[in-house]
Amino acid sequence: MEIVVAKSAGFCWGVKRAVKMAVESLKTSKSGKVFCLGELIHNRLEIERLKSMGMVFVEDFEKIPEGESIIIRSHGVAPSVIENLKKKKLKIVDATCPFVKDVHEKAMKLERENYPVLILGNPNHPEVKGIAGHVKNPLIASTLSEIEKLPSFSRLGVVCQTTLNINFFKEAISTLLLKVKDIKIYNTICNATYIRQKEAKELAKNVDVMLIVGGKNSSNTTKLYQISKTVNENSFHVESEEEIDKDWFKNAKKVGITAGASTPQWVIEKVVNYLLDIAEGGELSGRGIRKTVR
Ligand code: F3S
Repeated sequence: MEIVVAKSAGFCWGVKRAVKMAVESLKTSKSGKVFCLGELIHNRLEIERLKSMGMVFVEDFEKIPEGESIIIRSHGVAPSVIENLKKKKLKIVDATCPFVKDVHEKAMKLERENYPVLILGNPNHPEVKGIAGHVKNPLIASTLSEIEKLPSFSRLGVVCQTTLNINFFKEAISTLLLKVKDIKIYNTICNATYIRQKEAKELAKNVDVMLIVGGKNSSNTTKLYQISKTVNENSFHVESEEEIDKDWFKNAKKVGITAGASTPQWVIEKVVNYLLDIAEGGELSGRGIRKTVR
């Protein structure tokens, strides 16, 4: 059995940076703790590892003692959140991904130019909440029917969640072009997401079974799974090797693996090693690794 790991599988640059900043803050923290509003990344296993190192995940910053450090996740937050953290005299470690900051800038620019701002993305996702917090009256849409139901506008500015599915973005823009004459669009989908989605689709087309590794609560991992499933019925979303069913690989000669932006390398390796264990013989390729299993 040949196992091919997508080059882009796993942590993106922004998540790697956020985890690194969190670990470095832990090393210098006097209390041995660093707080985070919500989960630093959407991956249960990595969260457990960070907790064991001293990270504390809270839903409400009011519970954090004065003077402690708080990390802002790569998703970013609304300016009002930063203001509140400053009032509470917390040390802010801002790990907002610079690409997310760029979406904030673009949304604010559109507002300054008097465009009503439409954010394409999941309204419940922290990144979208953060972007929305940077403009006064944002519109948010996550489905085509929501876009169709939007009132008519003489002008409209558009930005999107960095992890948006590129196909949805194309469809959404086509729909909007029929509705609005003066439209200014910023494609703010992160390149890392685009490349990961493209690779997942290509790989899924060329393998017998496709595994997508990552948190069930990770929107970008779920999107990878949906994309893979459209071209390969035998696509499975697993959080870890423990969820793998050996029967999936009964007649498989080639297995593809990709992983969401919040999936750590060590989780991907565990999945690969598990597959190598169950494979009778074959190759491991991808990321420049080639290994024959006997
Ligand atoms: Fe940043 Fe793109 Fe990752 S926006 S957090 S590098 S998916």
